[in-house]
Amino acid sequence: MIKTTISTSGEPIFHLQAGDASYIISIFQGFPLHLYSGPAISDDDVEDLLVRVPHDSVIPLPAHPENNWFSCDIAPFEYPGFGTGDFRPSAVMVKDLSAQTASAPAAALRYESHTIIPGKPVLDPYPAVHANENDCDTLILHCIDPGSFLTYDLYYTAMRDYPAICRRTVIKNGSDSRTASLLRAYSASLDFPEIHPQAELVHLWGSWGRERHIERTPLLHGSMSVSSRRGASSQQHNPFAALVTQETTEEYGMAVGISLIYSGSFDITCEVDPFGSTRLMAGILPEGFEWRLNPGEDFVTPEAVIVFSGEGLGKMSRVYHKLYRKHLCRGEWVDKERPVLINNWEATYFTFDDEKLLSIAKEAADCGIEMLVMDDGWFGQRNDGTSSLGDWFVNEEKIRCGLPALVEKVNALGLKFGIWFEPEMISPVSRLYEAHPEWCLKIPGREMSISRSQYVLDITREDVRDYLFDTISGILSSANIAYVKWDFNRNLTEAGSALLPAEQGGEIFHRYVLGLYDLLDRITTAFPHLLLEGCSSGGGRYDPAMLYYSPQYWTSDDTDAMERIDIQLGTSMVYPAASMSCHVSASPNHQTGRATSLETRGIIAMAGAFGYELDLTTLTEEDKELIRHQVADYHRYYSVINRGDLYRLILPTDTVNGKTGKCAAWMYVSEDRSEALFTFTVIRTSVHPVYFVKLRGLDPDAVYQDTATGKKYHGDRLMNAGLNLTASYHDGDAVMVHLVRC
Ligand code: GLA
Repeated sequence: MIKTTISTSGEPIFHLQAGDASYIISIFQGFPLHLYSGPAISDDDVEDLLVRVPHDSVIPLPAHPENNWFSCDIAPFEYPGFGTGDFRPSAVMVKDLSAQTASAPAAALRYESHTIIPGKPVLDPYPAVHANENDCDTLILHCIDPGSFLTYDLYYTAMRDYPAICRRTVIKNGSDSRTASLLRAYSASLDFPEIHPQAELVHLWGSWGRERHIERTPLLHGSMSVSSRRGASSQQHNPFAALVTQETTEEYGMAVGISLIYSGSFDITCEVDPFGSTRLMAGILPEGFEWRLNPGEDFVTPEAVIVFSGEGLGKMSRVYHKLYRKHLCRGEWVDKERPVLINNWEATYFTFDDEKLLSIAKEAADCGIEMLVMDDGWFGQRNDGTSSLGDWFVNEEKIRCGLPALVEKVNALGLKFGIWFEPEMISPVSRLYEAHPEWCLKIPGREMSISRSQYVLDITREDVRDYLFDTISGILSSANIAYVKWDFNRNLTEAGSALLPAEQGGEIFHRYVLGLYDLLDRITTAFPHLLLEGCSSGGGRYDPAMLYYSPQYWTSDDTDAMERIDIQLGTSMVYPAASMSCHVSASPNHQTGRATSLETRGIIAMAGAFGYELDLTTLTEEDKELIRHQVADYHRYYSVINRGDLYRLILPTDTVNGKTGKCAAWMYVSEDRSEALFTFTVIRTSVHPVYFVKLRGLDPDAVYQDTATGKKYHGDRLMNAGLNLTASYHDGDAVMVHLVRC
């Protein structure tokens, strides 16, 4: 709901009610200002929330000051502009390319009018939350910049059932002859006058094989930022951050999350000013970005989704999970039970043929596995990582029977068939490169960096996208292919495009992302039944925008169960279990060399879209019997894991009995609280450890039964006294308890 009242100065105040959160904007002397956001408040009279700091001679006032306390450098702007008196980080920075004399970039927004509509307008074909008139309301603030020919529409969608506000900005050049250049165009900026400088920032950092580790760090007076300059959202930082206070835990305290629906270079900046006011902003990274806005053109920013929780990080995550599952992911596979798959990558790497794949498929069928995925190495002359990307035709020396026959044989075993592509890439050793060297991103006269023996295709070009669409669709139409793993294994360097004019060089990174969305859109539209899994050397582009096209994402190339605990719990900060692809791989693990029991590997991989990635033909009958049980268990627990609420109970970084890194625990609870699945794992054991774990999210008055032992517990006992898990453990032991309400 969006309520409008009028302030004593006769200007509107907008109270956006989103679930149990409030977001209040006030127009003051024409400036759109942020009065409050957080857990819901009921007052209509909130004008006194505006910070009034007495005038200090070095702080700029607006040109026609009506009092001595409203300064642009202190005001909580909804969309702050650069160069007009607010010296904090700006959301928008604009250069007037038609100016008669030299002028530094400048922008300042003034409210002109507003529109409130039920539902959420679709601004462009690119990824965003989708919701209808029953789900949300949208406020659009139409703003002008009196010193410029640009106008700004600030979009705020308040979700009715979620404490979430979706924000985007549309910048328009309404002139018929003047041109501007956007140097910064963030999606959202949010000022918190009331958050104390002892607030903390939670974010997700990592690298290859170590994605999305949780870090929590105090803010400083000054700026902190997490960003990617890689042309992809990246393994190093995820386009997400949360502001919390020192006392915030998983269950208690304030948490404000900001998550950017974008797959390219991004920035999330947080700055605390000398008055303790905190600005949090998210958007496209300004470095390397410069967008020319010609007469009559619009620029639409990606969407930022802001979630408010008064009940800790746990609730914030659960809101993101449900919102993204129901209102971001699309297609029939969002709700449909995903097949348990076997992927041949860690089983064979590049060394396989049709016979080998069929031998794995036979064992898989015998274990109840439902899909075979043929990974890298099936095309061109691809026998290692040095050639053939771009040559998307079947290597008939390896797949001797041909792709349609192979798929038929796999289908005849009762398995679906999936295939790997890395569409955005080109190997210098490939037929495609021989035919079209100009299709790579490159800057004339500059050497091209090589990474994983490959270059990046210039998908800002329509002809390149057409080639990719035609070749990929050709393969997909040639056989009964149910699934595609869409990989992306290097980042963008020397990003030049042969077709764009020189003055549009600053657009390449963003145009690349738009090209990617266009291609994904075409493929998912042409093949609506396809299950798409995103991948980027593991989880290097695991972001909300990719989930819009691919409801599941390969979480990490590190399949070691113990390492996966950190990675999966970090990923769960924002992303739903159903989006997290998790596989049981061989022991000792190929990435870390650590040995872990098959039982534990199964339990840890059951945290999302479950599958296997090892050579089933080498396993003992005993192992295969355990796999049959795991597959059956996964089906039994599918709904609670993938549709339930997640509670992170113990993070590996938590101190338990005076030590960190010892154990971890989490649980899923079905929406109606009738079922729960609890997981506890001992990462590194010690002598006589005592473990009690208190469960969460259950109905305190209900009685739950452990489906394995038959033992009954009251919900209040499980949550207040906990489960006594004291036992003798080895490193890497894991326990799973399935509870159903009696
Ligand atoms: C990336 C992926 C792996 C695998 C290889 C194939 O690293 O993350 O899962 O597909 O590529 O080259």
